[in-house]
Amino acid sequence: MMRASRARTTPKARPAYDLMRSGARIERRDIGRRGALEQPSATYVAHEGCDHIFFVGFLGVGKSTLARNLGQLFNRHYVDTDQLVERSLGKTVAEVFSEDGEDFFRDVETVQLGHLRVRKSLLVSCGGGIIEREENCDLMHDMGVVVFLDGDLVDSLRQIRRPEKRPDLGTAAHAEELYCHRRPLYEGTADITIDVRNRTFEQVALESGKLLWERGLL
Ligand code: S3P
Repeated sequence: MMRASRARTTPKARPAYDLMRSGARIERRDIGRRGALEQPSATYVAHEGCDHIFFVGFLGVGKSTLARNLGQLFNRHYVDTDQLVERSLGKTVAEVFSEDGEDFFRDVETVQLGHLRVRKSLLVSCGGGIIEREENCDLMHDMGVVVFLDGDLVDSLRQIRRPEKRPDLGTAAHAEELYCHRRPLYEGTADITIDVRNRTFEQVALESGKLLWERGLL
């Protein structure tokens, strides 16, 4: 269900949209290196209220890359909930899973998500399991709009280049089980669903940028 947006678009982002309509090339790698887009900058767009856009979806579907690139194009700050957890604990997600367990990881994830309430107009790439807790879904709806990137399990698995960094994945059978369990949760939480099947990364970025702009969310 879509709620009325409180976002107020500003002329600053318009050139990005024109660029996208003209079929601009968007690089997959290295746009907005880790943390680079989190620095305060006079050029970034501040909207009214807490109007974040949360990107959810199965691991490897391209949430971080999309949020980072849209942030660059539309002058919006980008954050990644996994990075927020890692920075708050001073260890990697894989270390947290193995040393402290998944429940602890989920607790910290919820705390970090809640901290976003005091920020504005963020593009938030969420860990794939964020929808496992209803509390997180409520938090995201309170703070903005949830966009589900709906992709194939096989495509997701192909995108995952470093399996040792994905403690949650386990075997292929477990990944499939997780995917089937989570897909309805993503669908039930989403305000907007973007089908990324059979699309290149560039198509996804262009289409979602256009859609979110036209709905007044970027
Ligand atoms: C998880 C996905 C990961 C990370 C953690 C747990 C999951 O995030 O939060 O490893 O349960 O699906 P990405 O989806 O960004 O890889």
